[in-house]
Amino acid sequence: MIIPKPQRIIKLDQAPYVVKAGDNAQAVLQEAILDTTLSQESYVLTIGVDGAKISYGSEVSKAYAIKSLEQLLSTCDGTIDAMQVEDEPSINYRGYMLDVSRYFFTVEEVFEQIDFMAEYKFNALHLHLTDDQGWRVEIKSHPKIAEIGSVRYRTLFKLRKHTGYYTQEDLKRIVDYAHSRNIIVIPEVDLPGHFQSAVAAYPELGCYGDGVKVAENFGVKYEVACIGKETTVSLIKDVLKELAEIFTDEYFHIGGDEVPSHRWSHCPYCKAKYEALGCKNWVEYQAHFMNELASYLKTLGKKVIMWNETEITGLIDKDVIWQYWQGGLKEEDLVKEVNNGRKVIVSCCEPYYLDLPYSINGLKRVYEHKPCFDGMNRNNFIGAETCMWSELVPNMKVLKRRAFPRLLAVAEGIWNGSGSYDDFIEALKTHRAVLARYGVKNTPKCKYEPKGLIKLALNLWWARRVLYWGGLQNVITNAKIEKLSKRR
Ligand code: ACM
Ligand code: ZN
Repeated sequence: MIIPKPQRIIKLDQAPYVVKAGDNAQAVLQEAILDTTLSQESYVLTIGVDGAKISYGSEVSKAYAIKSLEQLLSTCDGTIDAMQVEDEPSINYRGYMLDVSRYFFTVEEVFEQIDFMAEYKFNALHLHLTDDQGWRVEIKSHPKIAEIGSVRYRTLFKLRKHTGYYTQEDLKRIVDYAHSRNIIVIPEVDLPGHFQSAVAAYPELGCYGDGVKVAENFGVKYEVACIGKETTVSLIKDVLKELAEIFTDEYFHIGGDEVPSHRWSHCPYCKAKYEALGCKNWVEYQAHFMNELASYLKTLGKKVIMWNETEITGLIDKDVIWQYWQGGLKEEDLVKEVNNGRKVIVSCCEPYYLDLPYSINGLKRVYEHKPCFDGMNRNNFIGAETCMWSELVPNMKVLKRRAFPRLLAVAEGIWNGSGSYDDFIEALKTHRAVLARYGVKNTPKCKYEPKGLIKLALNLWWARRVLYWGGLQNVITNAKIEKLSKRR
């Protein structure tokens, strides 16, 4: 069976196709015709007693048709019923975010993720490249940012050192690999918060950066970028420029989430800039910076994405696309903003964050989520994206446990939009051989919808991360900096 479920399957009154040993899509395919009356992502796949025929609207949908045919061959029990599959996605942007900052994944591991995105017809890979816990991209004009910023001396798991970053050549290979599978790549440099790894490399980038190390524990750190210094803003623009050349697709993400303003309020540079700009609060101060970066990226031909942050959102340039992760903003307020013209990609943390345990984001909840909310102007709804944050995902083995089968549920939810959960579970049972190609041995059945003690245990496991949050460390450091700022 095909996942994501096609829009329409019409049974044909013919004998089924009998699969022969060694059959693959190329062997079964008798005809492939470009049909310009079909939209770019539409295809029609016809299976009859003699084999398969496809018509497609573009090379992209030709690849989708072939994937569907391959899945029918891999999941059937020797025969495929004669049928006509008429298919197209209900949502155009179908994204998957991978956090490579907290834990680094090799180029080959990213390739494998791209392959399974293509298998399930996702078309946008968002790479969260930088955060407090690691800077993972080479920047040629400022080499220390990756050399130092990628070294985490200790992590939450096994308390071991963790390192790794992508060279610019690696990044180009990732982009090429994704493009060859019809997937765009969106880089994210998280700014001006989630910036501690950069401050560790160049202390002058922070308000009080001396002695700062790449973050070892979880949580939102206070080592934000000192955007009161022109040198910081200029280095950040150098970073964006280098990456904008490598990531050739139209979107560029500049973060903007979870920015504590404590450091700024004690920093002479930030205070001076705040006064000069006539800001009324630190939210306005951040918005000014985000808007400056957004207009810089526009000159480089990019469409800018930012996480929606409840406080700052009202002040952000109307052309900036929000990625809605909830972040305190109510759905009805999002709908209002979108209906006023704001474009949005929806990534509700509940249920689209796949690092959360199945006890919170259970399979059915993920499957049944409707990312285009009632009353929202569909013209401004770019699409949906599911996110894999990696603070508690130290390797691919864990990632696969979290991603499968929920990633397939997202794929179907955003491609088909009106499938039934029970049918999805039936289709999933036929996908073992497909999943095995990606190193997924078993679908973790017991964890789809945990109940009782298992649910409680998983919820406690998740809540326990607050213990690693490092909040106390933030408070202690902040008290020291308050003292220091009084002496300055
Ligand atoms: C986020 O989860 N802070 C975007
Ligand atoms: Zn500052």
